[in-house]
Amino acid sequence: MNGKTLDWLAGPGAPLQGAICGPGDKSVSHRAVMLGALAEGVSEVEGFLEGEDTRATAAILGRLGVRFEAPGDGLRRIHGVGLHGLRGADGPLDCGNAGTGMRLLAGLLAGQAFDSTLVGDASLSRRPMGRVIEPLRRMGARIEAGEGGLPPLIIYASNGLQAIDYELPVASAQVKSAVLLAGLYARGETRVREPHPTRDYTERMLAAFGWPIRFSPGDARLEGGHRLRATRVLVPADFSSAAFFLVAASVVPGSDLLLRRVGMNPRRTGLLAALRAMGADITETPAGEQGGEPVADLRVRHARLRGISVPEALVPDMIDEFPALFVAAALAEGETRVSGAAELRVKESDRIATMAAALRALGADIEEAPDGALIRGGRLHGGEVHSHGDHRIAMAMAVAAQRAEGEVRITDCANVATSFPGFAALAGGVGFGLQETAGLG
Ligand code: S3P
Repeated sequence: MNGKTLDWLAGPGAPLQGAICGPGDKSVSHRAVMLGALAEGVSEVEGFLEGEDTRATAAILGRLGVRFEAPGDGLRRIHGVGLHGLRGADGPLDCGNAGTGMRLLAGLLAGQAFDSTLVGDASLSRRPMGRVIEPLRRMGARIEAGEGGLPPLIIYASNGLQAIDYELPVASAQVKSAVLLAGLYARGETRVREPHPTRDYTERMLAAFGWPIRFSPGDARLEGGHRLRATRVLVPADFSSAAFFLVAASVVPGSDLLLRRVGMNPRRTGLLAALRAMGADITETPAGEQGGEPVADLRVRHARLRGISVPEALVPDMIDEFPALFVAAALAEGETRVSGAAELRVKESDRIATMAAALRALGADIEEAPDGALIRGGRLHGGEVHSHGDHRIAMAMAVAAQRAEGEVRITDCANVATSFPGFAALAGGVGFGLQETAGLG
């Protein structure tokens, strides 16, 4: 999605010190603009993630006839058009790099009276969409994808959707959310059951917008035919963005860092449990609620980490945090084993392969498995690593570089702006050695 290429020169940094408040939660921001668009009245969003992924979703809703005002950084006023007020757009709708945007919008668009085409960048164009197409077709949606169920997605005008009772074959909040959003337009009660509970932001936010919904971990039910009422959404800071700082301050000697008002939804904070089991020193001071989500200030100090076997039950609660966890493991004493995490292979990049290659380029001892890895902790040296345009790989390797014994060039980092615009400046401000430089490629 970015024309320019950007590399980072990351090098041993100073102890990390100070206090920061990271960007708004990506998952919550996507959902806030979608539900605000479909609501009746004007919704206000505070703490909206000004990232490329979430802006792409807002831009698509704008093309479907929703008026957005952006009175300041992280602020949106959304003039909702009601459940049946969207109108079709000419030409394809570009989701950029965002899997969440494309999968949730597929559910939302499946019930509309017009045709839509969803496209994405090169990375998104390689990500599986069959997982949303299959349940949506069962609901009566007419959707076509490219070969192998890959984008683009063509979603035809609906002839009416029928509710389903769906058991998710993979733990995926995106698939669950697509089915629930289509369920708003379906006749009858839509139910989604999950093998492992995943993040429940769609359920919580539907309730906040006044839609009757019953949910408990791993089970959500709603009926079609109600209304969404405009509301105010306060977006907490994204735990997944805080994660890089949790690991960095844990591994860099002398660090003592405060992360303010981080979203602590239990379906997102698996990394905290994993890092604590490794010996991390992280204290948590509850800071109330923000937009119905618990938030906390997290103080993290350097500690000696030791390897662990990551419990498989924790995997869905830390699915976006494995790049950061792999770095912690590569710098810990002893072995860390990750299993039951094959989903990592279909994220913005194949995160098992890209992390294994990147850490190996710095001298780490890491063996890939189809569903995880075995990482033996040790020392890292400088070198050149490839992020493959994956924001979380770039940020994880910037963390690794803080403890490398030599400078690290990380290539292809422009996509960090999809989830964490301003990462390099914020990280530099608390002690990271990190400079942006024009890409070589
Ligand atoms: C997300 C769900 C997760 C996560 C992604 C955001 C969401 O994906 O990896 O970054 O907002 O629902 P899956 O549900 O596909 O695991």
